[in-house]
Amino acid sequence: MTQENVLEALKNVTYPGFTKDIVTFGFVKDITVDGTTVGLTIDITSSAEEVKKELTDAATAALKTAGFADIKINITAPAAPSQLSNTMSGKNIAPHVKNFVMVSSGKGGVGKSTTAVNLAVAMAMQGKKVGLLDADIYGPNVPRMMGVYGVKPEIAGNKVHPLKAYGVEIMSMGSLMDEGKALIWRGSMIMKAIEQFLRDILWSELDVLVIDMPPGTGDAQLSLAQAVPITAGITVTTPQEVSLDDSRRSLNMFEKLHIPTAGIIENMSGFICPSCDTESDIFGMRTTEVVAKEFDTEVLACIPIEPAIRIGGDTGMPITYHKPDSETAKRYQSAATKVLAFIDKVNAEGGADNASVQPTTPPGVSACSTGGAAAAEPAKAAPAKTEGESCGTGCGCH
Ligand SMILES: Nc1ncnc2c1ncn2[C@@H]1O[C@H](COP(=O)(O)OP(=O)(O)OP(=O)(O)O)[C@@H](O)[C@H]1O
Ligand SMILES: [Mg+2]
Repeated sequence: MTQENVLEALKNVTYPGFTKDIVTFGFVKDITVDGTTVGLTIDITSSAEEVKKELTDAATAALKTAGFADIKINITAPAAPSQLSNTMSGKNIAPHVKNFVMVSSGKGGVGKSTTAVNLAVAMAMQGKKVGLLDADIYGPNVPRMMGVYGVKPEIAGNKVHPLKAYGVEIMSMGSLMDEGKALIWRGSMIMKAIEQFLRDILWSELDVLVIDMPPGTGDAQLSLAQAVPITAGITVTTPQEVSLDDSRRSLNMFEKLHIPTAGIIENMSGFICPSCDTESDIFGMRTTEVVAKEFDTEVLACIPIEPAIRIGGDTGMPITYHKPDSETAKRYQSAATKVLAFIDKVNAEGGADNASVQPTTPPGVSACSTGGAAAAEPAKAAPAKTEGESCGTGCGCH
């Protein structure tokens, strides 16, 4: 028996979540062979126990089939992050989810959903238990981008099972309503919808729930921040100056809502030509660095304009999963690693806390579109208002 026999056998072992095998990835090291006794190291990038176990079992089986009798497999992995834990204070209506990541932007169409999808898939590929909540109730795009468009979720009593694709649990308003229908939402309805997404969806015990937000800094963002403590905020921007102005608003919103800012994704940053692979500047490149500095945060990744990203979105085949070797997939993976490390840091420092963004209006007093306590309180608690009387917050509601 030789080292070649070992490598040949291990080419049948794919890395969990990927289509490539562990030999092609270059994970197999330090092979020693003595007759039918083999020793080797598999050096992996995930610290997840399930990944280690799956690999050990699959490699042992492959080597046995190849005729080895005495098999010693040593798995080396990065140190497990200190347990991601729900050490948050304030209000949390989904306590079985350990961490919440809000993907936001100052303006529409900059690639939030694309980013949320690819980061969620990357985190799942890194061994985390991940959910993806499409909180864009006006324009839900996640079902199409994750390849579950038109799939109806299973109902269990008055709860709903999330859909699943690419190892990620998924829920979206798009999966709950008739396709192509427009919804018109008032502030309090948005709050109710967000709360139901968190309370009435049967999410597993997730390490991370990535939340794709509607554009802007409105009711949905505030409602979410009040309902659960957000561990990390990510803002997505394109490199033009006008977009940077909007991204400052988004970062400012994180500060106001006491959401720890994990960083910025600079999307549509340069263009990678599909024919020659050269990168050229269209909207600008690396312009977000200065904004990151202003807000004492970092640029997590610069993602180029690449037809494969758009095609991945349109066909429900995220580039991070389907083209794991592409430069773009590697950038999403690296951004996901940075966000997970950031989450660890936030938890090590005491965890996220949304106590200070809870509505201050006393129970029973309408908080209008601030998504405040009033809407969460039973309606009977509200003092009667005379017709035409406004709520007094200056929002103009009656
Ligand atoms: N880096 C990229 N390269 C090529 N196409 C991209 C890239 N990023 C996003 N797209 C495409 O641009 C379109 C808009 O992206 P996406 O839907 O992710 O933006 P969004 O910010 O979520 O929009 P909205 O504000 O409407 O929710 C999609 O068709 C998407 O596939
Ligand atoms: Mg979107």
